[in-house]
Amino acid sequence: MADIQTIGVIGAGQMGRGIAQVAAQAGLDVVLLDANLEMAQKSTERLGRALDRLVAKEKITIEERTEALARITPRSDYKDLAPCDFVVEAAPEREDIKLEIFTKLSEVTKKEAILASNTSSISITKIGACTDRPEKVIGMHFMNPVPVMKLVEIVRGLPTDDATFEATVALAKRFNKTTVAARDIPGFIVNRVLIPLINEACFALYEGLGTVEDIDVGVKLGLNHPMGPLELSDLIGLDTCLAIANVLHTELGDDKYRPCPLLKQHVAAGWLGRKAGRGFYTYDAQGKKA
Ligand code: CAA
Repeated sequence: MADIQTIGVIGAGQMGRGIAQVAAQAGLDVVLLDANLEMAQKSTERLGRALDRLVAKEKITIEERTEALARITPRSDYKDLAPCDFVVEAAPEREDIKLEIFTKLSEVTKKEAILASNTSSISITKIGACTDRPEKVIGMHFMNPVPVMKLVEIVRGLPTDDATFEATVALAKRFNKTTVAARDIPGFIVNRVLIPLINEACFALYEGLGTVEDIDVGVKLGLNHPMGPLELSDLIGLDTCLAIANVLHTELGDDKYRPCPLLKQHVAAGWLGRKAGRGFYTYDAQGKKA
């Protein structure tokens, strides 16, 4: 396909905002689309504040900040995705939501546009099957926080063609990311390894092996991880961790992936992590641990 210049990002939550930021900083025009226009606008304002922090740290100039922000257009109407050469969906981790979005994307985007999903566990082949172009549907799985994390996992569905794969890898490189290719098997590489770690940390807490802090400090310092698994689950969102654990459990059919009852309970209580102000830890309005 011709050079990718305009990208659509669906979902203005923490992942969508991060993807919009790296795309705008790489010089692409970005349509940041959310079902709720106010959410898309507020997310763009928040992205502006993230760019301000980069200016304050002298990582980018004020001109680069202004130019990057001007490339982002917050929208809520799918028709505004018409100019996009590439779309990345970063909606909540629910199959019904993703299938509905990709069905709509088939109708509103150019036929040559590549349709990518940031899903962390749902089948790319299944998502592709609800579109008019399964060969142009691919997984582009960013890590949280997107502007900081170097990796993008690229996942080919069964029908995904080589041109789509190569264009997606090239786009990730424009974002200054390193890519790995993963097969379209639930959880791909990163979450196949990470979610059992987080779930096991929840079981450790559930069984009283240690306090939240003991478990996190134990893994952080004992294994030299940048943060403990419970703290990391708060960053990812406990609802997202549970959704991925459920996909691993159901799709792989092995009880070793069963989600910990404590994780389910936290989600039922609305203690979804940093974004909710409470998860395994509590957070202030700036997202700092209280
Ligand atoms: N957005 C943008 N930048 C951020 C950020 C955010 N949310 N959080 C931290 N940063 C930046 C900081 O500004 C800082 O930048 P400088 O070095 O330029 O000053 C840098 O990252 C380091 O931050 P801090 O000094 O505040 O804190 P830290 O050293 O503890 O790092 C961290 C924070 C980067 C989050 C680090 O703890 C880390 O790497 N944690 C692990 C994150 C991880 O594993 N992510 C993958 C999750 S799995 C996933 O996303 C896949 C999935 O499907 C679930």
